[in-house]
Amino acid sequence: MNTAGFIAVVIVVFLSIHLVFAANYVPSDKIFLNCGGPAETTDSNGVKWTSDVGSKFASGGNSSTTSPAATQDPAVPEVPFMTARVFRSQFTYKFPVASGRKFIRLYFYPASYAELNASNAVFTVTAQSYTILKNFSVAQTTEALDYVFITKEFIVNVEGETLAVSFTPSSGVANAFAFVNGIEIVSMPDIYSATDGTTMIVGQSTPFYIDNSTALENVYRINVGGNDISPPKDTGLFRSWYDDTQYLLGAAYGAPETADPNMTISYPSGMPTYIAPEDVYSTARSMGPDQRINLNYNLTWIFSIDSGFSYLVRLHFCEVAQNITKINQRVFDIFLNKQTAMAGADVIAWAGGNGIPVYKDYVVFVPNGKPQVDLWLELHPNTSDKPNYDDSILNGVEIFKINDTTGNLGGPNPLPLPKQDTIDPTKARPSSGHGKGKSGQTAIIAGGVGGGIALALVLGFLAICVSRRRRQGKDASSSDGPSGWLPLSLYGNSHSAEESGEGIQRILLFYFGPLSID
Ligand SMILES: *[C@@H]1O[C@H](CO)[C@@H](O)[C@H](O)[C@H]1NC(C)=O
Ligand SMILES: *[C@@H]1O[C@H](CO)[C@@H](O)[C@H](O)[C@H]1NC(C)=O
Ligand SMILES: *[C@@H]1O[C@H](CO)[C@@H](O)[C@H](O)[C@H]1NC(C)=O
Ligand SMILES: *[C@@H]1O[C@H](CO)[C@@H](O)[C@H](O)[C@H]1NC(C)=O
Ligand SMILES: *[C@@H]1O[C@H](CO)[C@@H](O)[C@H](O)[C@H]1NC(C)=O
Ligand SMILES: *[C@@H]1O[C@H](CO)[C@@H](O)[C@H](O)[C@H]1NC(C)=O
Ligand SMILES: *[C@@H]1O[C@H](CO)[C@@H](O)[C@H](O)[C@H]1NC(C)=O
Ligand SMILES: *[C@@H]1O[C@H](CO)[C@@H](O)[C@H](O)[C@H]1NC(C)=O
Ligand SMILES: *[C@@H]1O[C@H](CO)[C@@H](O)[C@H](O)[C@H]1NC(C)=O
Repeated sequence: MNTAGFIAVVIVVFLSIHLVFAANYVPSDKIFLNCGGPAETTDSNGVKWTSDVGSKFASGGNSSTTSPAATQDPAVPEVPFMTARVFRSQFTYKFPVASGRKFIRLYFYPASYAELNASNAVFTVTAQSYTILKNFSVAQTTEALDYVFITKEFIVNVEGETLAVSFTPSSGVANAFAFVNGIEIVSMPDIYSATDGTTMIVGQSTPFYIDNSTALENVYRINVGGNDISPPKDTGLFRSWYDDTQYLLGAAYGAPETADPNMTISYPSGMPTYIAPEDVYSTARSMGPDQRINLNYNLTWIFSIDSGFSYLVRLHFCEVAQNITKINQRVFDIFLNKQTAMAGADVIAWAGGNGIPVYKDYVVFVPNGKPQVDLWLELHPNTSDKPNYDDSILNGVEIFKINDTTGNLGGPNPLPLPKQDTIDPTKARPSSGHGKGKSGQTAIIAGGVGGGIALALVLGFLAICVSRRRRQGKDASSSDGPSGWLPLSLYGNSHSAEESGEGIQRILLFYFGPLSID
């Protein structure tokens, strides 16, 4: 064998080894439908889309029209957002698929189509027997969240061999119409169900069952302490993961941690590697090096959600520190909505070592209240057994809305708030690649501060706050690098009280009491 042949063999062997380690899921159904678009297009992530014009998926039923978007925001990816199919009466897409669970991702860009007023696009979307969007206004939702476009991700089990997705203009709205820019259907493995009775409702000692009859909407998917992960970089499931900085509460930022390049992330046998990408497990956020500070705050993330639903919260963990290898080195409590979800969490005890991923599911019931409320996720060191480090760690979070008893997932449209005149520190710096910041979004830090160290800390934290960015449709021209654009399925930053309609800024308190200078 000549040298070139030998090298080729080595490369092939290397690649096949690599494939064994990073076994991506291979979906049997993978449909990317660019509604109203040209026959074949490729988006900036390299994903190929086909048109629904003349497509077997869109045949029959009531009439519909296609239209380009009347306005084209340069921050919005052309595929699939610059064309839409428009419906004046109920219209059903029928997708022939294998039975089993499917991701349904819907893409919306709020523009005028076919000379219709964008604010009259108020409609309901059903998938099989589920209502996945109810009286949904793309224009109102994106305005309230300050997004330039929005995507929604659902999971529905298909029993037969057809997945039906229907769009119906709302009857209570004058001149209502429906539209959609893109529809994505991807088969998925059964990775989010809870049928063994071990997924508990937080604050109650009763299990919650998520089975074939449950439909889910992903509302957040976060790579804690890490970077955004675009759909082609996911594990074959085309999920989008976002960094966590905009969900962190005020000053309590903790410290991002990244696994040493020497550390290999080894998925335990029995845990499919497509549960979450290595990137999620190799990055984390912990509380920071100062144990006394850690004992006096909670590492806190806040997520805006619709009230009146139950939520599945999946937390991803993996110990990334080289010197944390034994039980009782980093032990912490996990709170969801101010209730203990898990006391004495110890990632090494769960996983058996560092570099080994593990995830835990919890269900949080959120009673009816204001239309949108905050879901709190807090971590605090647990010192009961005197662990080596007073610290906590988290690598990833996924939050899903669970369908209600009527099979509905749709919540009320969030209300846009009146514009306010406030000084926005996010305007002071160039964008880091997620589009424009929202005006009037400010975190105010106050506290019982004493001493120069505390002042320096406050200034440091302020600097971090200043660099915060509100996520939004990514500016295509900005520097997200090879990861490309990410669809947005998320509710906005929930930290500021303005989103809940109170029109005031929330004051964040951070205690520096125990931080006396010694
Ligand atoms: C056509 O639209 C009407 C009114 O929205 C609806 O009742 C009917 O079921 C639709 N027909 C089909 C085939 O979707
Ligand atoms: C759930 O649905 C899938 C696909 O229809 C089927 O293969 C599986 O057996 C079902 N699971 C249960 C527990 O019924
Ligand atoms: C669209 O409708 C909204 C609300 O009804 C109205 O304020 C706006 O002026 C309309 N826009 C156009 C271009 O007609
Ligand atoms: C539907 O949404 C529109 C726009 O948000 C709102 O004006 C209307 O009251 C809603 N209708 C129902 C029945 O919720
Ligand atoms: C990583 O590996 C290199 C060489 O194998 C070694 O010199 C280095 O100390 C290792 N780093 C850590 C943090 O273990
Ligand atoms: C553990 O490792 C971190 C960095 O990885 C280091 O800052 C810390 O001092 C180490 N702790 C001990 C006790 O060695
Ligand atoms: C941490 O959160 C829990 C639950 O909300 C709360 O009881 C506790 O007081 C918090 N601790 C600190 C230091 O904020
Ligand atoms: C610490 O964890 C233990 C379980 O390991 C639990 O019993 C205890 O209540 C926790 N302590 C606090 C303060 O939450
Ligand atoms: C979700 O919807 C299905 C179908 O309507 C229903 O059987 C199931 O009980 C619902 N789940 C919950 C948690 O209400």
